[in-house]
Amino acid sequence: MARKVIAGNWKMNGDRSFAQDLVKSLLSRPEWGDLKAEVVVCPPALLVSSVAEQTAGTPIHVGGQDCHQNARGAHTGDQSPELLADLGASHVIVGHSERRQDHGETDNQIRSKAEAALRAGLTPIFCIGETEQERSDGQTLAVVEKQIRDGLPDLSAADSGADRLIVAYEPVWAIGTGKTATASDVAEVHAALRRLLIELLGEQGGQTVPLLYGGSVKPDNADELLSVDDVDGALIGGASLKADDFWAIALATL
Ligand code: PGA
Repeated sequence: MARKVIAGNWKMNGDRSFAQDLVKSLLSRPEWGDLKAEVVVCPPALLVSSVAEQTAGTPIHVGGQDCHQNARGAHTGDQSPELLADLGASHVIVGHSERRQDHGETDNQIRSKAEAALRAGLTPIFCIGETEQERSDGQTLAVVEKQIRDGLPDLSAADSGADRLIVAYEPVWAIGTGKTATASDVAEVHAALRRLLIELLGEQGGQTVPLLYGGSVKPDNADELLSVDDVDGALIGGASLKADDFWAIALATL
């Protein structure tokens, strides 16, 4: 069984006081003791440090939204995975479709980023998903399987951090659009992903990778989506910017 994970991707939203208020509100919730899910917030890179300070010693984990494949060097404007870890982040999103689209990131690059994240001690939240065109062409499974085969980090070394990896299936057409995949579409993709992860990582390794669904997850669809077999949590964009909504989704894991 994979652990449950609820992760908020704030994208390029928020400032210091917004972040502080949101985190304070989440920390004040009475149900923390019951929640078994790993709760992660991924603020913009410039806020990682202050959010990590605010959440130190609390159950909230902090993640970056991207990292470079190198630990350091002449890469103007990029984020070092080692620095993210040094600032107190424990997770980092890699391969989000907005990075693939806006920055032309390839499966090869994403694989290197995920490997760099693991080397830095971070937990990569490795994102995959098909476009609307690919879905209507009947290519969904082929696309996500290729993204996994080509982009999954090499986890063969004993100390590679295989037990940390998280995979998030986010159909591109469902991100920020209010459209969600149906429970049966999600079930089909997650079952295929689980089979593939078992093929690639072995029974034990493949079964324990948390498989998140992402794409317009909201409080009113969270129960249905999170009860699908092999959905171990959610990666949440828009709804993660509202403490009540994010929390309602987290409680759907109970
Ligand atoms: P959304 O974003 O919940 O706003 O659709 C999800 C994501 O991009 O991770």
